[in-house]
Amino acid sequence: MSSPREELNHMIAGFWRTQAVYVAVRLRIPDLLAAGPRTADELAAESESHPRSLYRLLRALASSGVFREDADHRFSLTPLSECLRRDTPGSMTGLAWMRGDWQYRAWGDLLHNVQTGETAFNHVFGEPLFDFLCHTPDNAAIFDQGMVGVHGRETDAMLAAFDFSNIHVLADIGGGNGSVLAAVLIKYPTLKAILFDRVDVIDRAKANLAQAGVADRVQFIAGDFFQSVPNGADAYFLRHIIHDWNDEQSRTILKNCRAAMPSSGRLLLAEFVLPDGPEPFHGKWFDLAMMTVTGGQERTESEYRSLLDECGFEWRSVVPTATELSVIEALTR
Ligand SMILES: C[S@@+](CC[C@H](N)C(=O)[O-])C[C@H]1O[C@@H](n2cnc3c(N)ncnc32)[C@H](O)[C@@H]1O
Repeated sequence: MSSPREELNHMIAGFWRTQAVYVAVRLRIPDLLAAGPRTADELAAESESHPRSLYRLLRALASSGVFREDADHRFSLTPLSECLRRDTPGSMTGLAWMRGDWQYRAWGDLLHNVQTGETAFNHVFGEPLFDFLCHTPDNAAIFDQGMVGVHGRETDAMLAAFDFSNIHVLADIGGGNGSVLAAVLIKYPTLKAILFDRVDVIDRAKANLAQAGVADRVQFIAGDFFQSVPNGADAYFLRHIIHDWNDEQSRTILKNCRAAMPSSGRLLLAEFVLPDGPEPFHGKWFDLAMMTVTGGQERTESEYRSLLDECGFEWRSVVPTATELSVIEALTR
């Protein structure tokens, strides 16, 4: 077991690893190594980098298991860097990219956020995250991929724990790249769906759902959930949407869902439900990420109960999964 000083030292230097992995991803090193082992000189030529600096980056990453360095100083992939290849199912490329790029810059302003309550991202970039993504499509595509890297493994756990079989039409509100909806539609072959997201996101979702062979069961609708939400579904599913927003904004989204829903309609929120107590829970770190990047927050069960009650919903249940994700179910009152 490490000493308190060693443990703290590791924490304090956390940003070294964030940036080292990010730079390796930006230079496409994991993709280049898919063809087989390479020296730093070869990789530098292929990635237009400075050979000696690249060697030092890869040597440090290899010492943490991200690459393997052999006696001839050739580098190859390890199970960790296999996850950073762009063509790996559930690739973590987008996650490493967005955390090392714009999220890193926002977290660099955490002190301001904690002192003033102003969302660090907005302070640094001069606009909220989703507006920034709207006019930087390359970043938006990275964000979509990042969602798979950060939340992808939650999908199987959710499907194992929660039964969607009594639903006829499922509206995925803020469904993003469509990867969650694709998995649900594949498991439930008679289910139909609506995928609702911002106009700039919908085209990427269409391509993903077509590739998954389920696009013919999906109605794609572009819009703004602060204005309205489409009707026509018996269940409204929002995964990691409400955590992006503060209580006032969340009430607007939930009331717009409520207005679109039929009587006895089902609302399904897939979120991390924070424990009330001091126990370790990764969602507490996510809460900090939400504070810094979107201005949102993770919530406890009692906070979700109050929010839903205020927006015209009757609490039904919270179904835990094998990951930290839970599915909260409520009915329209
Ligand atoms: C954290 S992502 C979650 C995506 C997806 N539900 C998932 O779990 O992977 C939030 C999503 O909300 C969408 N979104 C943000 N603002 C929106 C708005 N005003 N109207 C509709 N969708 C919005 C984003 O484009 C993004 O796809």
